[in-house]
Amino acid sequence: MYTLTFINSQESSRLEVTAEPDSMLITSVRKLVNDGKLQLAWRCGQGTCGACKVRLEHAGSGAMVMLGAKEKNVMARHAGLAADSPLSIPDTPALIRLACHIQIKSDLTIYV
Ligand code: FES
Repeated sequence: MYTLTFINSQESSRLEVTAEPDSMLITSVRKLVNDGKLQLAWRCGQGTCGACKVRLEHAGSGAMVMLGAKEKNVMARHAGLAADSPLSIPDTPALIRLACHIQIKSDLTIYV
C-alpha cells in the first residue's frame, strides 16, 4: 500500500489515506469525494473532461514528467498546456496533472 497525502492549501487541511499500488489516483479521489472527505471536482472519471486537476509534491524537482498522449491532449484543451508541447515536460510547481491519468507507483503528496 502507498500513502496519499492530500493538501488543500486554501483550507489548511491535510488528509492521508492509503491506496493500492498501480491503482489510479482518480479511484481514491472518487471514493473520498463521495464519502465527503475531499473536495475536488471530477466529472468523467475517464481522463477526458479535464476536471480533476491536481498538482504533485515533486513538482519543481527539475525532473521531467512523461505525459501520455491522451493526458497531453486533455491538458492542452483544459489545463493551459500548449498544444505543441512535447510529451516530456519539465516538472514545475505550476504543472497541473489530471488525477485520471496518474497511476500510483509511490507515496504521493497531492495539492488540490
Ligand atoms: S474526471 Fe474527467 S479527466 Fe478526470
